[in-house]
Amino acid sequence: MSQQALSPYQLVAGVAVITLDNPPVNGLGLALRLRLEEALRVAIADRAVRAIVLSGAGRGFCAGGDITEFDLPAITQSPSLMALFGLIEDSPKPVVAAIHGMALGGGLELAMACHARVAHEQALVGLPEVHLGLIPGAGGTQRLPRLVGVETALNLIVQGRTCQAYTMRDSGLFDQLTSDSPLDAAQALALKLADQVGSGSALRRTGQLSVHMHDAAAFFAYARATAKAQSRGLPAPEAGVDCVEFATTLPFQQGLEGEFEVFSRLRTTAQFAGLRHVFLAERKALEVEGLPSATSPRPVERAVVIGGGTMGSGITISLANGGLSVTMVERDQNALDRGLMTVRQHYEGAQKKGRLSAQQAEQQLSLIKGALDYQGVAEADLVIEAIFEDLQAKREVFEQIDALARPGALLASNTSMLDINQIAAFTGRPQDVLGLHFFSPAQVMKLLEVVEGERTAPEVMATAMAFARRIGKTAVVSGVCEGFIGNRMLQPYMMQAGLLLDEGALPHQVDRAIERWGMAMGPFRVSDLAGNDLGAQIREQRLTQNPNLVYSRNFDAITRMGRFGQKVGRGWYDYVPGQRAPEPSGEVNAAIEAESRRLGIQRRIISDEEIVERLLFALINEGAKILEEGIAQRSSDIDVVYTAGYGFPRWRGGPMFCADQLGLKYVFARMRHFAGGHDYQRCEDFWRPSALLCQLAEREQSSSALNQSEKS
Ligand code: NAI
Repeated sequence: MSQQALSPYQLVAGVAVITLDNPPVNGLGLALRLRLEEALRVAIADRAVRAIVLSGAGRGFCAGGDITEFDLPAITQSPSLMALFGLIEDSPKPVVAAIHGMALGGGLELAMACHARVAHEQALVGLPEVHLGLIPGAGGTQRLPRLVGVETALNLIVQGRTCQAYTMRDSGLFDQLTSDSPLDAAQALALKLADQVGSGSALRRTGQLSVHMHDAAAFFAYARATAKAQSRGLPAPEAGVDCVEFATTLPFQQGLEGEFEVFSRLRTTAQFAGLRHVFLAERKALEVEGLPSATSPRPVERAVVIGGGTMGSGITISLANGGLSVTMVERDQNALDRGLMTVRQHYEGAQKKGRLSAQQAEQQLSLIKGALDYQGVAEADLVIEAIFEDLQAKREVFEQIDALARPGALLASNTSMLDINQIAAFTGRPQDVLGLHFFSPAQVMKLLEVVEGERTAPEVMATAMAFARRIGKTAVVSGVCEGFIGNRMLQPYMMQAGLLLDEGALPHQVDRAIERWGMAMGPFRVSDLAGNDLGAQIREQRLTQNPNLVYSRNFDAITRMGRFGQKVGRGWYDYVPGQRAPEPSGEVNAAIEAESRRLGIQRRIISDEEIVERLLFALINEGAKILEEGIAQRSSDIDVVYTAGYGFPRWRGGPMFCADQLGLKYVFARMRHFAGGHDYQRCEDFWRPSALLCQLAEREQSSSALNQSEKS
């Protein structure tokens, strides 16, 4: 082994360049902390070293602490981040951070402990800890206000916003920004600082800077109230305000201690547990089971979207946002004009709201064109069909695509309910066919269900997952079944919502109970938004397949009354023009009571707790069945579907994580209890627990077992 390899740093003209190297994002786990501590100590003692530069290997500087370490003994093992950053700040030799790619969370805290920072203009910086239910816990809340002032610090910490370094150019966070190599610039700056130290100047240590705030008490009271109003009961944003206030009222060391106390308290909350679960689950979801490790994705640059309606236009925008060139194909000029107009209006709106510059909007629009024929298909790497939900019509489209597409192109359908295997069989290349189930509005919703058919090739799955990442979607693999993961689970959930009405609840009570619990929108508000006529169509289809389908006849009554939802101003609620909140409807409520009488049910007061449990357990039971059938790869994938696509509160970790937290035995016992309810709706059938749930509850296992792939 060469001398060079043994050295913990590279010595360049008197500068020790210490490289953080822990792929993929240089997470500050114990092993890296130990290496960094050693390198710093050696460099500080080495007479040949005049200054130190910290730099990151690979994609970026450092994306922060190692979240997987949080419940392992390693997290408390020395050196802690706090101690390490103290060592840097106290170093007698200048330490400069050279930031490329990203400096996030603990990575930015590390940079702030240095005596100077040089960043690439486009590097992503921020303290996103609140999104995990935490605050920066290694000095971030004390150092940031000292560098950039209280207001800017609060914005970054409380909102967990990440931004490109150049947007912070005047903030004081960086000593230098560059469009070239931050490492070269950092080395030059480090030597300059070493010269200054040599001629007797003191180093600028962040912890020694003071923070000034005029009328601090009033300012923080206002900031706390704003954080509280925006955080929907989550404690972290308010705690972030408290910590920034410490920076203005306490000496640095005491501020650090105060911050650590708050951080340690947040780390024990249920909210942190849920948010961390989803964070890790989203990363895990990218792994496609059974994929040979050598599988590499095919390049995807050119796409064709067939159909420019609600979904087709949203998908077109999503693809262009990801930098793909897209041709939207429609069946006639009017429809094409409408589709392209929707796209154009989107970009105009984004520009008006300041989300895109005129140049960016123009650039993305230039990637999009329209066509009335399938010529573009021959050159496409990916074709996404988004015509209306009709198997015969889809057959015609897929036969045409099959005849024209080049070998290896991915052929996808955006169908919500149809069988991908059947669609694949319309082509001579079922291995290249899959479902790409976007959610409405497709340019906004994060979730993408990647539906794997019986014959979809591993390489096609790998390509679809890479493509999803490129267009910024949260992808989850689903097998083929009616409604895939998300919509299939929605059926029993909606069914329970209906039965609650039959038994004594009213729509606003059901919605209020589950919204207070944390769902973004209750089932009846969702139904009004999606269109009750659409729900009726789906129910009709399902009834032809299963005439014994259990559901509340209140759903039929609503459509009979022409109450199709928000689009007509009337649904489960009345929508009064100019009024944001929907109004409970006397007419609907009377119809619900009449239905209970017809059924001979004595209406009763149903507690919010029962409403929440029945809705949640309906999701959990179906989720367990989905897992048992191998439709979902793992239980945490189901949590990703619900948190990314269905407004399930992220901090509750998703339905399957909730089951775990409550204990499967408890969930099972409550389901048995609900099964003893009104037999008019064959509760026994509805609440028949999934075999997997029975098994796990019996064995007193928790969903840590469910979190493995459970296909055996
Ligand atoms: P839509 O009715 O808004 O749009 C369908 C479009 O396809 C129309 O503009 C029509 O002119 C066009 N079209 C029909 N046949 C065509 C052909 N042969 N060639 C080119 N264009 C053709 O329907 P929407 O809502 O966009 O749904 C499309 C698909 O997406 C359906 O399979 C639906 O189940 C699925 N989906 C819908 C969601 C929604 O919320 N609307 C959510 C997820 C999936």
